[in-house]
Amino acid sequence: MARKDLLDIASLTRDEIELLLDQSAPFKELFTRSVKKVPALKGKSVLMLFYEPSTRTHSSFEVAAKRLSADVTNFDVAHSSITKGESIRETVETLQAMRTDYIIVRHGRSGLPGMIARQTKASVINAGDGAHAHPTQALLDAFTIKEKFPDPTGKKVLIIGDILHSRVARSTSTILKKLGVHVAYLGPGSLVPKTGPENIRRFTDYREAMAWSPDVVYLLRVQMERQDVQFFPSLREYHRLYGITDARLEEIRQRGLYLMHPGPVNRGVELCDAVMDYERSLINDQVENGIAVRMAVLYWLKPGAELINLK
Ligand code: CP
Repeated sequence: MARKDLLDIASLTRDEIELLLDQSAPFKELFTRSVKKVPALKGKSVLMLFYEPSTRTHSSFEVAAKRLSADVTNFDVAHSSITKGESIRETVETLQAMRTDYIIVRHGRSGLPGMIARQTKASVINAGDGAHAHPTQALLDAFTIKEKFPDPTGKKVLIIGDILHSRVARSTSTILKKLGVHVAYLGPGSLVPKTGPENIRRFTDYREAMAWSPDVVYLLRVQMERQDVQFFPSLREYHRLYGITDARLEEIRQRGLYLMHPGPVNRGVELCDAVMDYERSLINDQVENGIAVRMAVLYWLKPGAELINLK
């Protein structure tokens, strides 16, 4: 079924997810060629509407759109009429009048991309909304895991950290469960919600969580900007209890586990410096795969797009 928007992972079927992951592979293969561009979205316009800071998502969407030959406009929120009090609705109506084909939106308010999608004919892609969803992050995480485990059914992923405020935890655990992966959460009791998705083990003790035998440990960024009260005694204490210290990295290395993090990393909080040289760290793979997956998403939402074959 053709879709206009990509707003979350929960509403995608397993077949749609598998299709998007399959379609990402030929786009990744394109990166090894001397010409990394295809004319798939020639003549289409993409508008980047980021109300929150971003390095990876913003730049990889821009690169993805350009590699598909689309025209990209970066909407400069800080210098727009939004600073003069213009509402999001008026902003979207103005952008709609420009007949843009795609709006890629990041906003601190959960549900805002969905609201924009209902107001515009453009395809809206959620690039992260509040603590709600980050669907393209989930897709790139699943793609990265599938590169290591082509059939990930029954594999175990331990997600560590600030689950409560994390749209990444929400979307990535949803996609992994749809693919038959076992997911567990580890973090301070104050940051691991007791309610929420079923079939997710919850741990507050690092040793107990590692005894669950994960194949992948997935660290989340501690989102200080979304914490208006103190959820743990100090960052130092957090690192001691839940961070990947030098000693824990050694254990992870001995056990041959993969390590992931969506970025940006709080060095010395979630991860010690030595993780950057860990041979089974997939952090850079996640960044590279983000471009391929976002190309697949942009192409998938194009009206009348057929299965991609770059051969
Ligand atoms: N993972 C992620 O969303 O990173 P950015 O905030 O840099 O886009």
